[in-house]
Amino acid sequence: MNHIRISGTGSALPAHCVTNQELSQTVDTSDEWIRERTGIRQRYIAGQGETTSFLATQASKKALEAAGIEAKEIDLIIVATTTPDMVFPSTACLVQAALGIHGSIAFDVQAVCSGFLYALATAERFMRSGGVRHALVIGAETFSNLLDWNDRTTCVLFGDGAGAMVLSLSDRPGILSSHLHADGSHAGMLCVPGNLSRGVLSTATPFVHMDGQAVFKFAVKVLDEVCREALLANDVSIHEIDWLIPHQANIRILQSTARKLGLPQEKVIVTVGEHGNTSAASVPLALDTAVRDGRIQSGQRLLLTAVGGGFTWGSALVVF
Ligand code: ACO
Repeated sequence: MNHIRISGTGSALPAHCVTNQELSQTVDTSDEWIRERTGIRQRYIAGQGETTSFLATQASKKALEAAGIEAKEIDLIIVATTTPDMVFPSTACLVQAALGIHGSIAFDVQAVCSGFLYALATAERFMRSGGVRHALVIGAETFSNLLDWNDRTTCVLFGDGAGAMVLSLSDRPGILSSHLHADGSHAGMLCVPGNLSRGVLSTATPFVHMDGQAVFKFAVKVLDEVCREALLANDVSIHEIDWLIPHQANIRILQSTARKLGLPQEKVIVTVGEHGNTSAASVPLALDTAVRDGRIQSGQRLLLTAVGGGFTWGSALVVF
């Protein structure tokens, strides 16, 4: 039992879907502009009660069911989120309570859109060092809370959702390697410059600020680099990859990354059209979507990758 496999996946979306057409009734934008520049057709926006922990819990229940294990068997819960329900307790503790688990390790990680890769790599290292047999790794966001709905350059891009994965010790290879990076010197390129002061969000505009074109260039560069790092570490060629599951920021970033890597576009899992950019939820949400529709099959080689604010970026090479 010296390997770590993905034993189950799950995801959850808010009930309310907002199409570009609907958005263009309140925001100065159009379906054509959003689709052409980003590939996004719709996104799900959380309503009353659909908190980050609620979506995370729904996704976790499905992942546990798919893995065929009971919640009480989970030894470790890590939630990647930038939009926790509260400053504390962590969203992981709220999920733990909602699942009726007592005594497991539970904590959050915050690496924005790379958060799920950070959570996955952390869980992998915990499991390799012993004491954790099953881990629940979740990416969950209600990013709509961070948006200025008067800023058409950012509000059209994001959506809410959650994706979860159960990792289990196994005799068969699963996670082959994971690779993480960060460079805080680019903090201003993509940020939410608000902070809490006596319980109230301070600064005049505590919403997403983004230099779109700079983010685009940076994202394509580091996604290519960190994917190559994963391939090199495992002596695997890009031709041996069955599916690339990238952070779903923008269709053009996904296409450029695949082109740079020399991977056919058909091997890229793309869900940005249906979900928008769900930040830390996007990789596990895309993965679960492709597992459930039958594209991803047992034994296939998956390359997961993401980039996000910080900047942070990472990859993981996995046999499903
Ligand atoms: N609807 C209509 N017009 C718009 C909208 C909108 N929603 N947003 C901007 N415009 C206008 C601008 O005002 C501008 O008008 P002007 O020419 O009259 O000044 C025009 O469209 C072009 O604006 P640009 O910012 O130059 O558009 P660009 O082609 O760069 O596309 C985009 C913007 C889609 C944000 C692009 O830069 C991009 O994809 N960047 C990557 C950023 C990204 O994906 N961020 C996600 C978060 S980061 C992450 O997840 C890693």
